[in-house]
Amino acid sequence: MAAEATPLMRQYNSIKQQVPGALLFFRLGDFYELFFEDAVTAARELEITLTSRNKDAEQPVPMCGVPHHAADGYLVRLIAKGFRVAICEQMELPSPGKKLVRREITRIVTPGTATDSNMLRSRENNYLAAVARNKDRAGVAYVDVSTGEFRCTELALDEVVPALESWNVREVLLPEGATLDGVRNKTSVDPWIFDNDYADRLLKEHFTLLSLDGCGLAGRPLATAAAGAILHYLRDTQRAALNHVERPSFFDRGESMVLDSVTVRNLELIDPLFAGESKESTLVSVLDATMTGMGGRLLRRRLLRPSVTESEINARLDAVETLLKDTILRAELRKILVQILDLERLLAKITLGSASPRELLAMGRSLAKIPDLNRLLNENRFDEIAEVRDRILQGIADDPPVNLNDSGTIRDGVHPELDELRDLSRNSKQYLANIEVRERQRTGINSLKVRFNNVFGYYIEISKTNLDRVPADYDRKQTLVGAERFITPELKELEGKILAAEEKMLEIERTIFTEIRSFAAAHAERIRLLAGAIAEIDLNAGLAQVAAENRYTRPRFTQGGELRIAAGRHPVIEQLALRDAQRFIPNDVSLDSSGEYLAIITGPNMGGKSTYLRQVALISILAQMGSFVPADEAALPIVDRVFTRIGASDNLARGRSTFMVEMTETAVILNTATKNSLIILDEIGRGTSTYDGLALAWAVVEFIHERIGARTLFATHYHELTELADRLKGVRNLHVAVKESGDQIIFLRKVLAGAADRSYGIEVARLAALPMSVIERAREILALHEEAEQTVVAVSAHAPAEPQGPMQIRLFEPVNGNIAERIRSLKLDELRPIEALQLLAELQKELQ
Ligand SMILES: Nc1ncnc2c1ncn2[C@@H]1O[C@H](COP(=O)(O)OP(=O)(O)O)[C@@H](O)[C@H]1O
Ligand SMILES: [Mg+2]
Repeated sequence: MAAEATPLMRQYNSIKQQVPGALLFFRLGDFYELFFEDAVTAARELEITLTSRNKDAEQPVPMCGVPHHAADGYLVRLIAKGFRVAICEQMELPSPGKKLVRREITRIVTPGTATDSNMLRSRENNYLAAVARNKDRAGVAYVDVSTGEFRCTELALDEVVPALESWNVREVLLPEGATLDGVRNKTSVDPWIFDNDYADRLLKEHFTLLSLDGCGLAGRPLATAAAGAILHYLRDTQRAALNHVERPSFFDRGESMVLDSVTVRNLELIDPLFAGESKESTLVSVLDATMTGMGGRLLRRRLLRPSVTESEINARLDAVETLLKDTILRAELRKILVQILDLERLLAKITLGSASPRELLAMGRSLAKIPDLNRLLNENRFDEIAEVRDRILQGIADDPPVNLNDSGTIRDGVHPELDELRDLSRNSKQYLANIEVRERQRTGINSLKVRFNNVFGYYIEISKTNLDRVPADYDRKQTLVGAERFITPELKELEGKILAAEEKMLEIERTIFTEIRSFAAAHAERIRLLAGAIAEIDLNAGLAQVAAENRYTRPRFTQGGELRIAAGRHPVIEQLALRDAQRFIPNDVSLDSSGEYLAIITGPNMGGKSTYLRQVALISILAQMGSFVPADEAALPIVDRVFTRIGASDNLARGRSTFMVEMTETAVILNTATKNSLIILDEIGRGTSTYDGLALAWAVVEFIHERIGARTLFATHYHELTELADRLKGVRNLHVAVKESGDQIIFLRKVLAGAADRSYGIEVARLAALPMSVIERAREILALHEEAEQTVVAVSAHAPAEPQGPMQIRLFEPVNGNIAERIRSLKLDELRPIEALQLLAELQKELQ
């Protein structure tokens, strides 16, 4: 920077040095300005104009700015793009005598520490994580600053990235220089903040604990280090009390059902399989009837971490059942809940000192609904926190301003001096009006006005034509085109009083407001517990509502490994079918660890195999999260993990070498599934040639049967796999039924015992209205192919000796020599019937 830096730019530079990795929003009056590189970056990302501060200097300083009242919108966009933004505020009011106002960084906003509702999705947690690792293990801690949740665990190193993904973490702290393959949104921080001793000391001091044993952190150095790094980072970025953040609590992933990120995605628990698709294909869209933000977030957490403890699950189901049965109670409850705002996020803003008058009032009004809940339930179940509620409602006005810098935050009657000043200010305004009337009479100038501006305060304005009637005691201040402005000693005195009063009033309002906000913040722990209890009842009422609307039943849990579902339905497809006025066909499921626990499902495309598989997985997850399930009856084992893998060709949009992905994902199952897991395999082996795929699928089934013993559902187009049922004791065949009527096939969507009799690929093609000649030819190829299973044969060798139709004749016309070449170069051992069919369709199209 140039040697003749102004004091302002010197101040800027010293502040910028404190936050090298962040864009600095530097408050200058009504704007946040960015300078130098920051300005160039922000102008590009926000598409705003880049200017310069001293245009005529040799080295102008690049600059851009955003108005402070609109800053949030720009912040949201920068954070969404992964930037960190440091906010530097003016810490005192500019006044005429002072050259440079004091400025300080008040907070640093990062993707993982956002607390502003503009940056958050109300029903989703916003997690910041930290990973501390050694050679093969890692400690992972994560926090949601907007709600206060703070947890940590230890994992094998290769489980870390999938875990972060399944928690949908927004920002991951790693020590500078450390790597973790596949991690997204990483922020590098000083390695020393991961130091174990430092973490131990910092956590104890912050949470005023003598030891971390109560958090479950004894003997867990990696988890402790990760939690310490998080706390350090929070203190650094938030620069405010963090009273709403709970103590870190250690959890073991084994304490809940493990759903890896592939499974979460395949089952569309939270997000649709393909980004951008509508959310209606997700389980959460069917299940979320919660009324509050915290209830919605609890639902998502439960869905991603269902319980494995039967007593806990049953207690949750009891609560849902009570509310399911009492329709009136449920309706009344939900009517109250919908009026309770997001206590967790309001609390976060209150303790961080960023809650506005309206937000503080929202907390008070929400607390005011708690007594209604207690009355309705006929017990004192919820802490009403009356002192906080009353303090807020008695202090804050009914319709306070958004901004604390505007007056009107505090009610009349709260503070005698404030009331007096308000009187004075109101009276003075009346007094001013009186002056205007009196002066008009005195001077006889009817257009005389008393007005105010920032430059010289209150004045009297008189138009040019009346200037000859101005009294001698008026003091001329300004001449305009059509008028002149005057002041009088009387006006000056009054003005002094009014301005002083207004400043004083704002000051008093600010003080009272801050006191009330701090008072509420001091009750953070109680408010947090209350919010948790509200989330719980809201979730239960929501689940009861869904169960009532969709006729779900209460699942039962079995001990011996038996899984039996009578008339089970797919919770999401059922809704979509309903919407299209279609009927969903329920199906039974029966798997038993001590009998047949591995089912091979065959049948034509579109027969309903994938739907059947997924509905079993979804019912298991629903039951263990504490929800009723879409079935007439469900007796289920407690499952430790659910795995879902979908064959590559059903999943093409994901790019990468699909077969490789498929095999890697399958390897994870074979390595981590246990006897108590539920495995769903949908057409795996598809991403490679027929024989390889079949061989692999076969080997996978054998492995699961012999080494794992997990309940497994395997849908496949390899008819050969059905032989396994004869060879292996635990394997049974199922098929989706179809009815052939004439040359039509009708999907019955019923799952029945036994193998399907044949592949219906060609029949489905007929349904898709392929030309008859193509279908016929496909039949021939299929027949040849089945004959020639072991020997490689060229299709041309079996071509009919005498050309029978126009297609074959044209095939060998010279003009289409390239088509002949394509057929010649076919690798028939890698070609599946359906692919042959597709190729034929293509060729025919080219020939037409
Ligand atoms: N039990 C059912 N009742 C009604 N419709 C169903 C049922 N199962 C599947 N479907 C419908 O049939 C279509 C094909 O089902 P899918 O499970 O993808 O078949 P497959 O995996 O055998 O090709 C789905 O889009 C779904 O809408
Ligand atoms: Mg399918």
